[in-house]
Amino acid sequence: MASALFSPLTIKSITLKNRLAISPMCQYSAVDGFANDWHLVHLGSRASGGAGLIIQEATSVSPEGRISPEDLGLWKDEQIEKMQQINRFIISQNSVPGIQLAHAGRKASAASPWNGGRKVAIEKGGWNTVAPSAIPFYDTDPAPLALDLDGIQKVIADFKSATKRAVQAGFQVMEIHAAHGYLMHQFLSPLSNTRTDAYGGSFENRIRFTLEIVAAVQAEWPENLPLFVRISATDWAEGGWNLQESIALSRILKEKGVDLIDASSGGAVTQQQIPVGPNYQVPFAESIKMEVGILTGAVGLITEAAQAEEIVASGKADLVLVARESLRDPNLGLTFAHELKAEIAWPKQYERAKL
Ligand code: FNR
Repeated sequence: MASALFSPLTIKSITLKNRLAISPMCQYSAVDGFANDWHLVHLGSRASGGAGLIIQEATSVSPEGRISPEDLGLWKDEQIEKMQQINRFIISQNSVPGIQLAHAGRKASAASPWNGGRKVAIEKGGWNTVAPSAIPFYDTDPAPLALDLDGIQKVIADFKSATKRAVQAGFQVMEIHAAHGYLMHQFLSPLSNTRTDAYGGSFENRIRFTLEIVAAVQAEWPENLPLFVRISATDWAEGGWNLQESIALSRILKEKGVDLIDASSGGAVTQQQIPVGPNYQVPFAESIKMEVGILTGAVGLITEAAQAEEIVASGKADLVLVARESLRDPNLGLTFAHELKAEIAWPKQYERAKL
């Protein structure tokens, strides 16, 4: 029987050759936001490895929006060129280059995981962070600055300019990062947003910032190219953002022209209780797809070919995003196709390994 995972997915003018995407993964390897040969080889090898879509790591729209000082960025034109080279290579492998645009808000200015992941002091190259409200992620962190209306407008404008650069860089899929406790999610969740103005309080107010960013991105992003939004479908915490709100937001995003909801979860608060296990986030992709009738992506502890195949074949999600397993095996697309006996084109250089 033909593989569902290795069937093409057409979204607007782009056809992914299969439903396996490489989930965005920070590499903490950029200098001043610039991509380099590490990013070329990391992203490029996963493209030659058979995935249909390669989403570049959370790429910051401004220096202060970086999770770590070593994040990629698109806040200046000079940052475009290396990404053009990477994207040309990805396309040469018959894969599709995507970008995740992000702002880390109160979670910015953090060290790379191998340096402990906690706040980088200003004298060591860190910076003051911004957020909807002056509530730090860790109690021991300095409080972020609550964005005023001008500050909000600046972030929105930064997303617009970064999108323009992303188009110039040749990306073909845009993903807006509204998950994992970063700035948009900080506005969505009542646990991090205690504002009393038009951006806080009611559901309509908490989603306003995300909707304004989506509109700013759409002003620059070509209408015929796919637009994804990654959300955390729940905070896994009492009083937090939840699945019902995610469904309601997804419905609005669909009306606004978003093509796919990439359903992740968590990251908003330290008191989250996550029942981690294989497929643990798949029910979110499934509920949003069923309730809203929008394409969804499933992510999180999807590590096996048969598991990924079942998710797509049973209609729980339209796309499977894999992160860590693709670090273990950059040729994950080739491996999964082999296991599922799906007939796919291998890079000609590798064909002698195709059994
Ligand atoms: C991640 N993740 C992540 N998510 C995201 O939306 N933007 C990002 O830049 C990153 N960065 C990142 C770096 C690294 C090294 C890892 C391992 C993970 C989360 C990732 O995309 C994915 O959602 C989770 O890892 C769950 O999927 P897996 O790893 O179980 O397949």
